[in-house]
Amino acid sequence: MAKESPKEIFLKDYKAPNFAFETLNLNFELGEEHTIVTSSIHVLPTTSSGKAPLVLDGENLKLVSVKINGEKLADDKFTVSTRHLTLASTPSMPFDLEIVTEIEPQNNTSLDGLYKSSGNFCTQCEAEGFRKITYYQDRPDVMSKFTTRIEGDQKLYPVLLSNGNLVDQGELNDGKHYAVWKDPFRKPSYLFALVAGQLVSRDDTFTTRSGRQVSLRIWTPAEDVPKTEYAMRSLKAAMKWDEEVFGLEYDLDLFNIVAVPDFNMGAMENKSLNIFNSRLVLASTQTATDMDFAAIEGVIGHEYFHNWTGNRVTCRNWFQLSLKEGLTVFRDQEFSSDMGSRAVKRIGDVSLLRTAQFSQDAGPMAHPVRPHSYIKMDNFYTVTVYRKGAEVVRMYQTLLGKTGFRKGMDLYFKRHDGQAVTCEEFLAAMFDANQVKFPTFPLWYSQAGTPLLIVTTSYKAESQSFTIKCRQEVPATPGQPEKEPMLIPLAVGLLDSKGNDMHLSSVKEGASVHNFTNPDGSSVTTAVLRVDKAEQEFTFVDVKEKPVPSLLRNFSAPVRLVSDISDEDLFFLLAHDSDQFNRWEAGQTLGRKLMLNLVALQQKGEKLSVDSAFIEGLRSILNDTSLDKAFVAKALTLPAESEVADLMPVADPDAIHEVRSFIIKQIASSLHQELLKAVETNPSCEPYDPTHKYRAPRALKNSALNYLVSLNEPNFTKLAISEYQKATNLTDKFGALTALSQNPGVTRSEVLADFYEQYKGDNLVMNKWLALQAMSNIPGNVEQVQKLLEHPAFDIRNPNKVYSLIGGFCSSAVNFHAKDGSGYTLLGDVVLQLDKINPQVAARMVSPFSKWRRYGEERQAAAKAQLERITSTNGLSDNVYEIASKSLV
Ligand code: PHE
Ligand code: ZN
Repeated sequence: MAKESPKEIFLKDYKAPNFAFETLNLNFELGEEHTIVTSSIHVLPTTSSGKAPLVLDGENLKLVSVKINGEKLADDKFTVSTRHLTLASTPSMPFDLEIVTEIEPQNNTSLDGLYKSSGNFCTQCEAEGFRKITYYQDRPDVMSKFTTRIEGDQKLYPVLLSNGNLVDQGELNDGKHYAVWKDPFRKPSYLFALVAGQLVSRDDTFTTRSGRQVSLRIWTPAEDVPKTEYAMRSLKAAMKWDEEVFGLEYDLDLFNIVAVPDFNMGAMENKSLNIFNSRLVLASTQTATDMDFAAIEGVIGHEYFHNWTGNRVTCRNWFQLSLKEGLTVFRDQEFSSDMGSRAVKRIGDVSLLRTAQFSQDAGPMAHPVRPHSYIKMDNFYTVTVYRKGAEVVRMYQTLLGKTGFRKGMDLYFKRHDGQAVTCEEFLAAMFDANQVKFPTFPLWYSQAGTPLLIVTTSYKAESQSFTIKCRQEVPATPGQPEKEPMLIPLAVGLLDSKGNDMHLSSVKEGASVHNFTNPDGSSVTTAVLRVDKAEQEFTFVDVKEKPVPSLLRNFSAPVRLVSDISDEDLFFLLAHDSDQFNRWEAGQTLGRKLMLNLVALQQKGEKLSVDSAFIEGLRSILNDTSLDKAFVAKALTLPAESEVADLMPVADPDAIHEVRSFIIKQIASSLHQELLKAVETNPSCEPYDPTHKYRAPRALKNSALNYLVSLNEPNFTKLAISEYQKATNLTDKFGALTALSQNPGVTRSEVLADFYEQYKGDNLVMNKWLALQAMSNIPGNVEQVQKLLEHPAFDIRNPNKVYSLIGGFCSSAVNFHAKDGSGYTLLGDVVLQLDKINPQVAARMVSPFSKWRRYGEERQAAAKAQLERITSTNGLSDNVYEIASKSLV
């Protein structure tokens, strides 16, 4: 078979397919030695077919036969390579193509295509896994009606599932049975799914607002069914929410979710048969934390919402991935905000954007929300496509208002239901529905890099005017040396000297004046300025006194804001801003400044100190009983070490860690009374309830406990041990364990061992135990992680375990970036071992190396050596090759 090498694929080369596939009948004969797949496609040549060959994608397949209109094709009528099956000429009239292939799912460790997890068959086809099942035009703009027949051993695989409706089932000879599923909706191959195995379902129903009765089923191994209650509750909440907020109803009579323990990603939105990583379905008081419950709610919502944003309207090509992912992340963020606390959700989302996406945007893997090219699409399921993409969607809403945004969504579905489209079509629907044109907005899709927004402000008492001067710079990124200014919605409020919002009447920009009015006549207190030039000035008039500006409210654009706001004003905002997000942000800005200042001192070997205003600011937040306790917990959290590292010309992980630990201890010792009170007055309510109201006090309690234990004083350690022992839910138990594991020593070892003994039977809890140890900043932890690689709780073939242990390890800057290079060597070893098993997961593990240029010489040399070692390895996967080689450029 001819070997084809990997190719870089470019957006600019996109061409519509030459052949349409009207219907597809799949037949699976599932077996232990091999599985036989028969695919019968009704092919419609298009006007552009002409003499074009029919090129089908296929990988790791054994071709058994090819037939056209029932006749076997002679060997010289087609060619097969490692990546394609090519039919040189085909009938000019519609025809039936039948392809039989043989595959070995039991040996498929890539968890991509058809594979086995815990003895059950399951599939993962996005982005390009369907080609590991059969030869096909495996691209999202080829949409077909699927009918799937599955045949297998009745004892081993009593449950047989696929997309759509069950239309037939029955028994066969030799202990076999079969089921036939028909999906009435046209869909691309990436949304195909099959599951076969020993599973039991939790059943429920949902009645849509038009009266359709939908059966809901969540499938797991029998013993896990009790743990699916919260997932079911979340699913029903999501279905209701989408009807209420977007007017979107479910469109079939059945909705299935299957939980599998071995899964590369979080979950997959296959039409009416979502497949989930079991960590995002299974939860109980004893085995999941508040964070896990929140993640389940969010991801159950996310996959369900894809039924409209992704499935009913899908992507024309993979460059448009953010069309469905950015939009669906935005939708799940809004859903979670409505279920819990909007401000706290926003704070969490922005923190993640800052630590993960801004840093991707600043490194060698920087790419636009709509990438220009890729080698392996799997590598582009990134924080940029998902998270920055969601920010782009949020900016439409900020610019157009909630009503305007909804009009845009309605028009999008009206125009494109049943189609495979691009980001331009989404933008056109948004703008057309609101009769606006923002010519520089589309640049958010094509320009990579985080814009820098520099703001200076001035007040003139004589004219009662307040001026905001903006300058924007979009930094150069690989392949994009120069950038154009783009439209940045800058949400601004002005606070008076009492801390109240001023009424905003109008703003001047150049020759134009914009008057603010709300449709309902109420006064405007937040104005959205449209910054779209490299330099620009906005002047608010009728400003009666010198205001304190609250800039970029609710993080109205994914930019790095640098402003001339004084520390005094930041403390004022921390105490008074009506925008909860910006209250938190004021504290973070102060925290970042403090950390950077102390890092400079630390590097010079000078004495550190934390100024009392910072501590007092936190004290008043802690004492403010009117605040949401989860918000208080967020406000108490210092900016992440990685966030500070990204702001330094040369990142110094040791100094940053020293400084952050120092500040934490200072806060803990100055506020120990308040912190102790927070622990004592916020015990968990019985019975355990994962909703926000009950989650919030736990968040505060555990954060306070963490501060106290950082002091490593016997009485606080005792307190944490007692919290650990009396905990009746995993949030409290794991919270206490986390606090205790900060300090090396006997107590730490004992409590980690105790936890292991209690939970070793539960894989999902063991992942947390692994991650907690891996992320530890205690000195010399590389060796400990090395040992855990051999521990029975670890298994390199299970992605969750790899993400916990290896992913966790790479997030501990001091140990991963150990000066002797031992952390890098460990990661290099793991990547090479893993690449042979699961290239997608291996490629994800390479990315911690990509920031190597941000560190000092010694570390640079050691990390580069590992990258070179990886790229020079024979038989490397395309996935790992792409990330490692791009990181070296
Ligand atoms: N489409 C999935 C989601 O975001 C993610 C995914 C991508 C899962 C690729 C598996 C493989 O919901
Ligand atoms: Zn998604």
